[in-house]
Amino acid sequence: MTAAVHGFAGEGDASVRLARELGIDHHEVEVRHFPDGESLVRAAPPASSTALLFRSLDRPNAKLVEILLAASALRDCGAARVILIAPYLCYMRQDIAFHPGEAVSQRVVGRLLAGHFDGLMTIDPHLHRIASLDDVVPGIESVNVSAGPLLATAIDASSGSLLVGPDGESAQWVEQLAQARGLEFLLGRKQRKGDREVALAIPGSERVSGRPIVIVDDVISSGTTIIAAARQLRSAGASSIDVLATHCLAGREDLAQLREEGIRSVRATDSVAGPAAVLFTAGLLAKEIRRRDWHR
Ligand code: R5P
Repeated sequence: MTAAVHGFAGEGDASVRLARELGIDHHEVEVRHFPDGESLVRAAPPASSTALLFRSLDRPNAKLVEILLAASALRDCGAARVILIAPYLCYMRQDIAFHPGEAVSQRVVGRLLAGHFDGLMTIDPHLHRIASLDDVVPGIESVNVSAGPLLATAIDASSGSLLVGPDGESAQWVEQLAQARGLEFLLGRKQRKGDREVALAIPGSERVSGRPIVIVDDVISSGTTIIAAARQLRSAGASSIDVLATHCLAGREDLAQLREEGIRSVRATDSVAGPAAVLFTAGLLAKEIRRRDWHR
């Protein structure tokens, strides 16, 4: 018996694309919200001992509870192994207490998931000060899939674009892409002052004048970082500005704001459903699932 993908209704087609890529069944997990805010979760009985529960964990608070309920339902219906496929993994940025009294949410959420799933696959989680996903979800098999090869195919190397990472945390992604496509890159320096306020400088911006720019980042959240970078690049004479990101959490309004700032396009993977999600990850995920025999 082969495994099946269990994807949540109404959250885009990424889970369906993954099942199709693997050549296995897709079943919808239904969620009903009660008037008091609680969720009723209903999963289809799995036909094999392995269930691949697919859910991206953007807007995560209710989703976290619902995936725990879904995992429990799948086990009650006979799944011996429940693997979480979460293309976007939430709460990864708070990896230390930046101020006394703050919860280290990365550690709390990682351990919660480790306690309820037999394996975890995600795409480029924001691991800044932590070396490995195994440290975040201890004791289960965890897989970090890189979207780098997919982002690289989205860059037209013949355009002579200059890649720009807006801050030190984007260095690993921008360096990888620059090397893959043989392009130059610049790295900005960012200081965050609030949720929607950053101070950003781009050393070397004298190389920007007259050139097409691709800003590369792992996460677009409010869009504040990208806007600050775009302003610098426009005043340095960029001929065009496009944005490439692994995860785009920004909603329609924030994306409209990016367009108003003169950004020509924003493209991201389908790790989070939305208007920017044009780069499909099913092939990358399926390859790693097959490598581990999780599809059987
Ligand atoms: C953090 O360093 C990340 O790489 C992103 O730059 C950041 O999360 C983006 O957030 P926002 O879009 O709210 O500026």
